Amino acid sequence: MTMGRNKNFHPRVEDLLSRMTLREKIGQMVQVAGPKGGIPDALRRQLREGRIGSMLNVTEPAISCELQRIAVEESRLGIPLIIGRDVIHGCRTIFPIPLALAATWDPQAAETCARVAAREASAAGFHWTFAPMMDITRDPRWGRIAEGFGEDPYLASLFAAAMVRGFQGSDLSSPDTLAACAKHFAGYGAAEGGRDYDAAVLSENLLRDVYLPPFKAAVDANVATVMTAFNEINGVPATGSIHLLRKILREEWGFSGFVVSDWKSIEEMVNHGFCEDGRDAARKAVQAGVDMEMQSSTYSDHLEDLVATEEIREGLIDDAAAHILDIKFRLGLFGERPLYRAAVPGQPEREALLQAKNAALRSIVLLKNNGILPLSPETRRIAVVGPLADDPYEVLGTWNRDGRTEDTITPLAAIRSLLGEKTEILHAGGMKYSRSRDTTGFAQAVQCAREADVVIFFAGEEAILSGEGHSRAYLNLPGAQETLLDEVAATGTPIVLVVLAGRPLIIGKAAEKAAAVLYGWHPGTMGGPALADLIFGVESPSGKLPITFPKAEGQIPVYYAHKNTGRPPEKLSLTMIDDSPVRAYQSSLGDAARYLDIGYQPQYPFGYGLSYTKFEYSDLRLSAGTVLPGDTIQASVRLANSGTMEAEEVVQLYVRDVTGSLTRPVKELKGFQRIRLKPGEERIVRFYIETGKLGFHNSAMQYVVEPGRFTLWIGGDSQSSLMAEFHLLPTRDMNKR
Ligand code: GLC
Repeated sequence: MTMGRNKNFHPRVEDLLSRMTLREKIGQMVQVAGPKGGIPDALRRQLREGRIGSMLNVTEPAISCELQRIAVEESRLGIPLIIGRDVIHGCRTIFPIPLALAATWDPQAAETCARVAAREASAAGFHWTFAPMMDITRDPRWGRIAEGFGEDPYLASLFAAAMVRGFQGSDLSSPDTLAACAKHFAGYGAAEGGRDYDAAVLSENLLRDVYLPPFKAAVDANVATVMTAFNEINGVPATGSIHLLRKILREEWGFSGFVVSDWKSIEEMVNHGFCEDGRDAARKAVQAGVDMEMQSSTYSDHLEDLVATEEIREGLIDDAAAHILDIKFRLGLFGERPLYRAAVPGQPEREALLQAKNAALRSIVLLKNNGILPLSPETRRIAVVGPLADDPYEVLGTWNRDGRTEDTITPLAAIRSLLGEKTEILHAGGMKYSRSRDTTGFAQAVQCAREADVVIFFAGEEAILSGEGHSRAYLNLPGAQETLLDEVAATGTPIVLVVLAGRPLIIGKAAEKAAAVLYGWHPGTMGGPALADLIFGVESPSGKLPITFPKAEGQIPVYYAHKNTGRPPEKLSLTMIDDSPVRAYQSSLGDAARYLDIGYQPQYPFGYGLSYTKFEYSDLRLSAGTVLPGDTIQASVRLANSGTMEAEEVVQLYVRDVTGSLTRPVKELKGFQRIRLKPGEERIVRFYIETGKLGFHNSAMQYVVEPGRFTLWIGGDSQSSLMAEFHLLPTRDMNKR
């Protein structure tokens, strides 16, 4: 058995591998984009010679079937292609973007999204999705924040595993599954400056405690594939990192699927300055353990020669081809799964649309409400304005590949449908799209606002402003939206501001002009009906932020699990910039870890989200004040709905290891539960905390749980104050219990 090969391969892998030539084995390691409009002769020839193992972006059903037919019927060994697709948050039925799914704090919603997507995409002839993306990030300037699950490794890990389960189902060979792909391995979200593709500088501790846990959760959920990241970490591109791909992923975690590069990321190692040329890149990538090359051709150009000159062992090629064949067999491509079908469903199933709406309902976050929401359905005249009020495309968000705008129910359409004829709806977009600086449409929108009892203003970002390659240095509402908002506010008609975007935006000033603020992210095909139901009180908002919202770009990175520093701002009186005396003596004006101009608080904290009802927390109790390593401690709290509406609350549990051999964050999410209560109802909510889960990687890179004092909070967001303490004893102090 060759080094590093998974011992539990599908029983037919070794036999097939033994019958393959070196060139055919290398062929399995090659993935190219599908042709448009027809199949060139050169591609037909490559397929017949078994020199391509996978294709992506094959969008025309007839071409997809013909490519597969050539590979299976006209090549020597008839090895089927594995056809990949970016099915990120839906195929035909588009669910909320992954960052919005994380805002549901309901991993089941994400699993459902993936299950629906797998059914639709497999029917369209796709076998493999390049999802879930699970890159942790603390930088909303980074456009790909939209594709991940936010800043917290605990929350992101649960969502990553849920989506893997949803895509892959319980039996990968079932025709309605997709092989999933944990991406982008690793540290991509730590790009300097939030600039996509930029370098990540990460300590090994931070890498292992913050950025890797979601990938470990995906591997533990048997994810079939892993995709390498474009970025370097500390000078080594992820695509050439033996440490990441062999030591951690294969040896420590026992990953048994296959590794695919990102788009040309092998060839890009020359740009990084890590490889001399394509040949050097091919050598380093295959030595690091990249099994399949996406789109660039260094493998097909150089691997055969590298083996011939003995610069690499043929065993590395055998390993890579075996990993790929194993997934192809497990997918049922050699028999169980029909190969020649490729038709994106004619229209989304009703059940799928309802599930997309339910996910959107729970993803939308109420950030402010002076009492104006929910609006009464009896409201006489409502102005619906803003560039995202009636746009069926932008609400589908980034990485939409097969969703159709004709399926979208826009917010305006949904409001009209919900209210019927009894309410007069005045609509004017005011702007044609979010970046527009054309103010000629303002007058009509302002006039609608003037005549109405309330304005619902749909602001935000077009889908193209987030996602890959779309980092922004300024995070304000794009274009002339803030000017339009000012002019609408000047009418004096109260405003419900709804922001639809792929990232946290800087909306402090905009929020001051609104009586209420809902953050809808890019909510997908059914975002409109979900927003309408929330605005008019059919359901209460229950989303919670999976990412901290900064007050200003200059505050980034700002996140809840920060370090306490030697001068925590909470403990010091802070002199703000306008209070500082002119020509003040250069003393420490309450110097602390904060800014003179905006202090230290974010605009909205991680885990934050309001409700139409009132949830009250009391009676926090622990099962013990001292515990031993390996113990489980129970924490309970009484949750009451003291308001007037049935609603759901996400009860969150945070823990702090107060003193450690390395400093620890001021708090870390260690549990949450989504609880639905009727008015007047109350419930004891219990958490069971395994002390083994309270550890971190120490300076020797060992995962340790150190004895000492721990603080614990339970509440409705990361700034909740209901607190208790417990002590973890070293084993020797048994008599001190
Ligand atoms: C892109 C992305 C990756 C995607 C792949 C295929 O560059 O980085 O997330 O899956 O190429 O489209």
